[in-house]
Amino acid sequence: MTPLRAVKGMNDVLPDEVGRWQRVERAYARSMALHGFREVRTPYVEPTALFVRAIGEVTDIVEKEMYSFDHRGEALTLRPEGTASAARAYIEHAVHGREPVTRWWYTGPMFRAERPQRGRYRQFFQVGAEIFGDEGPGCDAEMIDMLVGFLNELAVPGIEVVVNTLGGPSTREQYRAALVAHLTPKAESLSADSQRRLGTNPLRILDSKSESDKAAVSDAPTLHDFLGAGDREHFERLRAALDALGTPYSVDPRLVRGLDYYTRTLFEIRGAHDKLGAGSTLVGGGRYDGMVAALGGPSVPAIGFAAGLERLLIASDLTEATNTVDALVAPLGAGATTAGLVLARDLRRAGVRCEIDTRGGSLKSQLRRANTLGARIVVILGDSELAENVVQVKDLAAHTQDRVGRDDVVRAVALRLADDTARMVAPAASREPA
Ligand code: HAM
Repeated sequence: MTPLRAVKGMNDVLPDEVGRWQRVERAYARSMALHGFREVRTPYVEPTALFVRAIGEVTDIVEKEMYSFDHRGEALTLRPEGTASAARAYIEHAVHGREPVTRWWYTGPMFRAERPQRGRYRQFFQVGAEIFGDEGPGCDAEMIDMLVGFLNELAVPGIEVVVNTLGGPSTREQYRAALVAHLTPKAESLSADSQRRLGTNPLRILDSKSESDKAAVSDAPTLHDFLGAGDREHFERLRAALDALGTPYSVDPRLVRGLDYYTRTLFEIRGAHDKLGAGSTLVGGGRYDGMVAALGGPSVPAIGFAAGLERLLIASDLTEATNTVDALVAPLGAGATTAGLVLARDLRRAGVRCEIDTRGGSLKSQLRRANTLGARIVVILGDSELAENVVQVKDLAAHTQDRVGRDDVVRAVALRLADDTARMVAPAASREPA
């Protein structure tokens, strides 16, 4: 029988990789807590209408990438992103009535039926955050600066921040008309996708990867030519705040993103080009001051971002020590195995991560097992040790082996491991007595 395989573009994360995932997730949760964000968890399935209304009917996501299905007459969709759900929950629970400013973060799987490739999957994980109730631009700058700090913590090389402003809806309308006027005479040279977008969502043509589209927009007017005074000032203040924070960035007046909800501030962060390819964005975000009202809530400004966890993992130079347990109990013989079970339980009760090799086997094979697990300590328990109520404590890092009385084993192992932790977190000089 042919074995079944996972759905294309949806991946298993095996235990060897989970350590790195957890490290990034922990760093993210810590960074969020430091900045006053609280975690929100929304369903993976939402009414299809939520994404159509929030993201926009004429977007790649809504037009061709959603996993939508009918369930007993209800039109449902596996969430392709987290912002629409966060805004829905914010409105549904009338959070605006309780908090002037709301800072939420989230993580979890998102679903988009895209063509799978490195860094692009059909089920992928995002870490993201949204701020409701602050019209910026201070919080916009704070968010971008926080992300740069987070990416630095993950040791992502070659971080580049690109910012732009889209202005408000009226700017977009005027610009849209100007862009259509510019591109219509060149329509023949546009790609088939862009010819279609000319009538539906012309701003997306600015984002096109096709060479002929790039040529057609190269001398197009930019949206900045149409910005009103308020939008212009908002953007200037964002730039001043980023300068004050010392956050490096560049301005790309042609930056647009694939979701229709953005207003004013828009940003992307790229990095690790050699591993991800130049087009691969790590973080995308921006303001969406009109979404909450458009979804039936009050008029509340908002900004947020999301980063692809898989992309962060590809981009990050961090490695996770493959240390599964701290100690291995190695019984040599049947009698020793039962005594070893008790000893292993005692060690775990003292907080020592511990495995026991109940297959028994030779000392050599058990030491090999300790190596595979990354265990520093091997507690060897043979028949002669059992008779004398002692064990051998082998420290693979310090290259020592000591005979320790059974009652002292837990303390002896814990002390060695504690010493190891101290050495790892404090530089040697700072441990010298003053
Ligand atoms: P987005 O640009 O669609 O924005 O996605 C954000 C990030 O998710 C991307 O930069 C990328 O790292 C990751 N990502 C997107 N699609 C895939 C995929 N198919 N495979 C792997 N990773 C992917 C949003 O989702 C907005 N909700 C961001 C936002 C929040 N804007 C305001 N608030």
